[in-house]
Order: sequence, then C-alpha cells, then structure tokens
Amino acid sequence: MTDRQSRLPSEARALVTGASTGIGRELARVFAQHGHPLVLVARNGPRLHQLADELREQYKVAVDVLIKDLSLATTASELFQELNQKSLSINILVNNAGLDVYGDFVDTDWAEELRLLQVNLLTLTQLTKLLLKDMRAQGYGRILNLGSTGSFIPSPLNAVYSATKAYVLSFSEAVAEELRGSGVTITVLCPGVTRSEFHQRAGMERIRLLRFGVMEAGVVAEAGYQALMAGRRVVVPGWINQIQVLAARLLPSSVMTRIAKVMNTYRIRTVRHLCKRNSLSRWMLKFTTACNRLLGGDTSASSSKTLSALM
Ligand SMILES: NC(=O)c1ccc[n+]([C@@H]2O[C@H](COP(=O)([O-])OP(=O)(O)OC[C@H]3O[C@@H](n4cnc5c(N)ncnc54)[C@H](OP(=O)(O)O)[C@@H]3O)[C@@H](O)[C@H]2O)c1
Repeated sequence: MTDRQSRLPSEARALVTGASTGIGRELARVFAQHGHPLVLVARNGPRLHQLADELREQYKVAVDVLIKDLSLATTASELFQELNQKSLSINILVNNAGLDVYGDFVDTDWAEELRLLQVNLLTLTQLTKLLLKDMRAQGYGRILNLGSTGSFIPSPLNAVYSATKAYVLSFSEAVAEELRGSGVTITVLCPGVTRSEFHQRAGMERIRLLRFGVMEAGVVAEAGYQALMAGRRVVVPGWINQIQVLAARLLPSSVMTRIAKVMNTYRIRTVRHLCKRNSLSRWMLKFTTACNRLLGGDTSASSSKTLSALM
C-alpha cells in the first residue's frame, strides 16, 4: 500500500494552529465539514471558543481549544504534554500559524523577527517532530505545513518571512521523502496573497492592483485539504500563483528577486498611505462624534458622512 492510499480513520483528529482567523479558521471549518474532531490553537481565546461553538453546532464534531502563544520557545513541548494529559491523540497536524514583518531588513524590529522565527520555523519544526513519532508508529498520519509563493521567491522587504517559508518547503519535502512508505505524508500549502483581516483593515480591497489575484481563504483551505488527503507534497493554489512559481523556476533568481522588490515596494507604500488615511479618518470620526455630542446633534449620520468623505 502506498502512502497516498494509507487509510486515515474517519475520526482522525486534526490540530490546527492559528485557527482564530484567516486561512487557519477556514482550514478548521473544512476539517469539521469532513467530520474530523479538532483541536484549535492560537492566542485569541474568545475567537477560538466562538469558532469551536459554531463548528460543534453546525457539524456535530468534538472541538477542543488550547490557548497558546507559539512565539515562546517552551510552547511546543507544553502543548504536546497537554495533549497527552487530555488523551487527545493527533492524526493530522496543520502548522498554519504564521506572521510576517515588512520593511528593509536593516531597519526592522529584531524582537518581532525573533517571534516570527519562533512561530514560522522553530515551533513548526518541534511540533512536527513531537507529533510525528506516534503517527509513524501507528502507520498513518498527515501533516500540512503552510508555505507561501515566497517559499520559491526571495522577497526583498519581507526577507526573513520569505526565508522561513523557503525553509518550510525544503524541510517538509525532505522529511516527506524520509517518510516514504511509512503511511505518513507531509504536504506544503503555498498560497499567494490571500484575503485576510489585515487586507481589510488596511483598506487594500479598494485598490484594484492590490486586489488582483488575491484569493479567498476558504478556497485556499479547500485546496490544502484536498492535496493533504491525496498525499501530495506541494500545492500552489490559483493559476496566478502557479505562473509566479513557474516563472521563479525558469527565470534567474536575480530577475525574480528584482520583480518581487518592485511589487513589495508598491504594496508597502500603498498600505502605509492607506493606514495613514484610515487613522486620520478614525481620528476625524472621533472628533466629529465628540463635537456633535457636545452640540446635541445626530452623531451617527454626520460621522458616517465624514468617514465616507475621507475614505
Ligand atoms: N494571507 C496571505 O496572504 C498568506 C499568503 C501566503 C502564506 N500565508 C501563510 O498562511 C498562514 C496563515 O496566514 P493568514 O493570512 O491566515 O494569517 P492571519 O490572518 O494573520 O492569522 C494568523 C494566525 O496565526 C496565529 N498566530 C500568530 N501569532 C501567533 C502566536 N504567537 N501564537 C499563536 N498563534 C499565533 C493568529 O492567532 P492569534 O492572533 O489569535 O494568536 C492567527 O490565527 C501563515 O503561515 C501565513 O504565513 C498567508
């Protein structure tokens, strides 16, 4: 029997890190839809509990919540111990939690980059090691690691992030090969830009160029689930992302890195501009509301007028 055919029990339990929002939340939803019990991990407890209630009610699956900060060096082993204490065996591990830091490497904040390295790289690696042992002993299991199109393309102004994603790809493919024939598979999901709360908060939705090729988190999650269950090693969802990855394989690295720099420069400038405008709008909104309160006027109508004039 090949790894692809190795059977996962229908009640295989999935642990999803970073399940409180974005792609992780959608991945949790897809697993619940397919009847898998879940363990949801992130820092935002209220959001995780709200999602857990929703999934239990809608899909009648067992959902456990573990509130953890994955940027701490001790968290992976604490999490593993807690799973054992609660007798929650994990058959599917989804290393989704991740963060990024934008800017010239020479100027970016080291403390933030350290958290990034811990979450995107070290915790992911340690969790994989800890949970893999039982999976291999049982002869079945699935691991889904979140890479990015940045796994293939060095990304100036996002250098540390894209380097961690290159690591995720290389590490996952290498261990997947070690596991050949064991019944356990590792899949790397490599999305391009995917709609997230950050995009919405920054107002990127309203810039046509920044909207181009942006995928929905639900579509990305479904592609990841299908590839994982099929035992595929790498999946790049969306044809625009696939073209980028193909170009990265065909063109010299220096050319691709240059293109990535131009795109990131444009993206960062636009986002900074939008953020400035949004915070000015928020300040104006507060100011108008306060004035209207003092004058006894209709706060909601005038506030929304001010906001739409500024946005
Ligand atoms: N969105 C994109 O454009 C895109 C593109 C390519 C790859 N990806 C990758 O896809 C994955 C998910 O991205 P996303 O866009 O869905 O991100 P997101 O919306 O920002 O969500 C990130 C998730 O990670 C969790 N997280 C962050 N820091 C954490 C920490 N210290 N401890 C525990 N959990 C933490 C967050 O939960 P709490 O804040 O509640 O802790 C949240 O649930 C990431 O690995 C990202 O690199 C995203």
